[in-house]
Amino acid sequence: MFITFEGIEGSGKSTQAKKLHEFFLAKKLTAILTREPGGTAVGEKIREILIDEKIIKLEAKTELFLNFAARLEHVEKLIKPALHDKKIVISDRFFDSTFAYQGSGFGVDFFLIEQVKKITLGDFAPDLTFLIDVPLDIAFKRIEGRSSNNRYEKLDKNFHQKVRNGFLNLAKKNPRIRIIDGTKSVEEIFSAIIQQLPNL
Ligand SMILES: Nc1ncnc2c1ncn2[C@@H]1O[C@H](COP(=O)(O)OP(=O)(O)OP(=O)(O)O)[C@@H](O)[C@H]1O
Ligand SMILES: [Mg+2]
Repeated sequence: MFITFEGIEGSGKSTQAKKLHEFFLAKKLTAILTREPGGTAVGEKIREILIDEKIIKLEAKTELFLNFAARLEHVEKLIKPALHDKKIVISDRFFDSTFAYQGSGFGVDFFLIEQVKKITLGDFAPDLTFLIDVPLDIAFKRIEGRSSNNRYEKLDKNFHQKVRNGFLNLAKKNPRIRIIDGTKSVEEIFSAIIQQLPNL
């Protein structure tokens, strides 16, 4: 079982991913928690480039290829072997983020992203994805004051609105993606997530 969390900055992905991981461990299920970009030594190095605020502007297609390079390492070296060992894998972000950020946010053609995805991963995809959806103002309020040097957090509201809408459009087209109301309390959100889990 491969489960991913998606959403804009400050939506609560990491909070819920961690809770779900702890939930599985408490049930004595083997589960790993990982993140993107990152998850492998090389992936984490690529992450540093992608979020470095000193890099003012990367070409959107450079971001696309860097994300998929990190993702290929992540899938082949960590995710697939863990799934093969019957572990549950939880990833904080996965390829839907590339469609939302580089596609909806920066305007890279979805067909091109789809092609790069196909070349790198074939038909590999999450089994289940939770999109934690929150209005921008709420998300930004949650992370204001957080010391961060993440390049994406410095981008304007208009960009993040496009990303949020991009995620919602992906969810409309894809039953794998479950929209979770992220404005509720941490516990309420978590129980909404648990209700969507298949029997494990
Ligand atoms: N449901 C919630 N209600 C109120 N605050 C929350 C809720 N969920 C998370 N938070 C708080 O909001 C902040 C952002 O949450 P979190 O780090 O989980 O978001 P994220 O989606 O992982 O953000 P990023 O994309 O920047 O990593 C944290 O301080 C967290 O404790
Ligand atoms: Mg996070």
